[in-house]
Amino acid sequence: MRADFVSQAYFRNPAAEIEKLRSAGPVVEVQFPMIGKVWTTTTQDLADRVLKDSETFTIRTGVGGVAGLQWWMPRILRTLANHMLSKDDPDHRRLRDIVDEAFRRRAVLEMEPRILTIADELAGNLFADGSPADLVDRYARTLPLSVICELLGLPPADRPMFTAWASGFTRFTGTLGLISLIPNILAMRRYLEKQLEAVRKNGGTGLIAELVRVEQEGGQISRDEMVAMVFLLLFAGHETTTHLISGSVYELLRNPGLRDWLEEDWSRTGLAVEEFLRFISVVQFTKPRFVRKDVELGGVRVKKGDKIMPMLVAANFDPQANQHSEKLDLTRKPNRHLAFGTGIHVERKVSKAATTPDRSVIPFGQCNK
Ligand code: HEM
Repeated sequence: MRADFVSQAYFRNPAAEIEKLRSAGPVVEVQFPMIGKVWTTTTQDLADRVLKDSETFTIRTGVGGVAGLQWWMPRILRTLANHMLSKDDPDHRRLRDIVDEAFRRRAVLEMEPRILTIADELAGNLFADGSPADLVDRYARTLPLSVICELLGLPPADRPMFTAWASGFTRFTGTLGLISLIPNILAMRRYLEKQLEAVRKNGGTGLIAELVRVEQEGGQISRDEMVAMVFLLLFAGHETTTHLISGSVYELLRNPGLRDWLEEDWSRTGLAVEEFLRFISVVQFTKPRFVRKDVELGGVRVKKGDKIMPMLVAANFDPQANQHSEKLDLTRKPNRHLAFGTGIHVERKVSKAATTPDRSVIPFGQCNK
């Protein structure tokens, strides 16, 4: 199938393209920037199956390769891709165990007052330099970035520098664009290494200090993995939330009736956020997985060595999973979405020491549950 997933036409109306793909079948082959030829799924059922079967569909090839990373690419890209989302178990679990504590329900709820304070400050200053104001620059990007910097324990004074780096990283759609970002990526790596070194010498707070503690107690994490972890948290943690905030505001501006309905009773927010997660689907595809053995999937024979990349937005718009899925319905209940994906990179078994409800692990990003 020819589908241009980086065109403006697709970004403006993904539903039409998804319909076209779904009518071609539940599993279709598409061409994707940087990844090349890859299978994708168009139903929720199959996306769920692929993501949960981490024996048959793995992130790495048998010899450790990752889809999209080519032998000729600069080493720095390989180093930064050395994070948990690019690993299968047991390596994935080893790294995930180190940070899970910071994402337990209690830890996240403890952050809530601070997050509200930052949000209020930013909202209060939104029009400080005049109207109209850029919501993305002044709020949607700044809020998650500030929260993730606090979570990591990075100095507030460094945030403007971070925002500049981070904004650049999100605007590429192909290999050349990625390569042009190398100087920024190197600067950021040097910065993160310096931060880690400072914490090793002088101590600190937040997740960076936690990583250093694990390292100093002889835990299994290399220096490169520490940098890659911080890099992943910074990007996975802010880019997603930025788009969820700006996309939700955009939809509310287009639908003043929905905005009024929400404003009438703010306790409706939880339900509304679930629907924004589904409808906006900020992560449209998961990372590609490699097929480890020939398998029948949705009537298609996919072969060992093929790549498959479940399409989360198609899963979320699957009419079999949610009625009138093309409609934004803030009262939708139940809301069956895979906005956070599923499988080992999202859910975690709660350890024996963590069986009380307030210690259960919150899937990354799902702080509101
Ligand atoms: C709107 C909010 C968010 C959405 C929609 C979202 C979505 C996702 C998805 C779909 C995956 C799995 C990708 C795959 O399987 O290939 C994922 C993984 C991940 N996300 Fe998020 N995310 C959000 C917010 C966050 C936040 C706030 C953080 C951190 C502070 C975060 C950190 C991570 C990490 C570390 C992983 C990898 C976990 C692992 O490999 O075990 N995400 N996210």
